[in-house]
Parts: sequence; C-alpha cells; structure tokens
Amino acid sequence: MSFDPRTEYQDTDTAEQYDQKRFSTLSGKLFQWAEQRVLERILGEVPRGSLVMDAPCGTGRLLPLYLSKGLRLVGSDISAEMINVARRRTERWKDGRNFLRMDFVQIPLSDNSVDAVFSIRFLPHFPPSERIRMLREFRRVSRGQVIISLSVSNGWMRVRRMIKAMLGHDKPVRNPATLTEICHELNTAGLKQIKWFWTFPILSEQIILICEKA
Ligand SMILES: C[S@@+](CC[C@H](N)C(=O)[O-])C[C@H]1O[C@@H](n2cnc3c(N)ncnc32)[C@H](O)[C@@H]1O
Repeated sequence: MSFDPRTEYQDTDTAEQYDQKRFSTLSGKLFQWAEQRVLERILGEVPRGSLVMDAPCGTGRLLPLYLSKGLRLVGSDISAEMINVARRRTERWKDGRNFLRMDFVQIPLSDNSVDAVFSIRFLPHFPPSERIRMLREFRRVSRGQVIISLSVSNGWMRVRRMIKAMLGHDKPVRNPATLTEICHELNTAGLKQIKWFWTFPILSEQIILICEKA
C-alpha cells in the first residue's frame, strides 16, 4: 500500500504510537537530540513573545522547545488525532498555544499573521510541485523567517540509502532533492536561504534552512 502523508496520521493508534515508534530507538534519540541542538541555536535568535507556527506540529514533539523559550505558538496539522496528542503534551502551557487543523496547500490565516513558520520533517514527504505550493503559503503567512528541514540527495547520501535499504532499515523519505534543486524550489516560492545547518553531518541527510522572503 502506498504511503499518503495526508491520511496516514489521521488515525488514533498511529498518533498515540508515533513517538514511541520513531524516537525510542538509539538512532531515533540521537537524531532527535542533534535536531533539537540545531533548533535551539536558531531559536536563540527569535525574540521572546514572538508568535510562531509549527507546521505541522504532529504529536507536539517540538512544542516544549518553542514554548519553554517564551514563544507563543500555533500548532497546525491536518490530523485531529495528532493534534490531540500535541494538546495533551502541552497542557501546562495552555495559555500560550493554539491549535488549528489545516492543509498547508491553503492555510486559513491572513498574510503576515505569524512572526515565523517552522516546518520540520515534513516537506520531504511531498514532490517538488506540492512543496513549492506549501512553501508559498508559509511565505505568505509569515512576517519574518520560514525555517524548514529538507532531505539532501548527493553521491554519498545515495550510497547511504542503498546500504540502509540492503540492511532493511526504515524506508527513506520519498523526495530528497539536490542542493541545486532546493535553491530552485525556494526561488520559485519567493524565498531565499540565509543560513543552513546539517543536522548530523555524514550520518543524516537532513538539513535545516533559515529562509527569508526574497
Ligand atoms: C512526520 S509527522 C510530524 C512532523 C513534526 N513536525 C515532527 O517533527 O514531529 C508529519 C505530520 O504531517 C501532517 N500532515 C501531512 N500532510 C499534511 C498537510 N497537507 N497539511 C498539514 N499537515 C499535514 C500529518 O498529519 C503528520 O502529523
């Protein structure tokens, strides 16, 4: 059966088991730690009280990171089941956060309505044409930066994928892109990258980019 990121997570069991399945292994913990280190660095530059949108929030895995820094938050996702888990996880910050169910191809917010959009571990699920549509929407609703993670394809990462497939590891994300393709997509969406970081050089294909309106 093919994987559809829109419907896959609209299921209570999937939502309740997501964190345990993805982040309880040693590699899951290690990559999560590395990712949070990069995000902490980026968040160090975001003023307290800023309104950020986590797109998508999933089970709210990253929300304590934003909320504990004094940021206000819109958690957004297409899955009500994932939002339920996120809501539970962030109960103690309930005055500082809101949740909205949406599909990012058409975000139900007006232009420039948040200070920044964070989109982590999401865009690589989609082909370039849809990624560009969503990037345009992130650009439209953000007054400031759009921070995204993407999966990079290069010679080493292709070999790494082959080795992982031979070892029977998790199926890799469907739509990695070369650095040239990434620049082209950002450009088409009206964004420019101002900084980027490898989450875990050599071992992970994930990069996190800070983008601004071009
Ligand atoms: C990999 S998960 C969670 C990502 C989350 N940022 C994290 O790092 O834990 C992907 C999420 O994307 C949501 N999703 C999939 N397609 C979507 C769409 N078109 N619009 C909004 N959310 C979507 C799913 O419901 C799921 O919760």
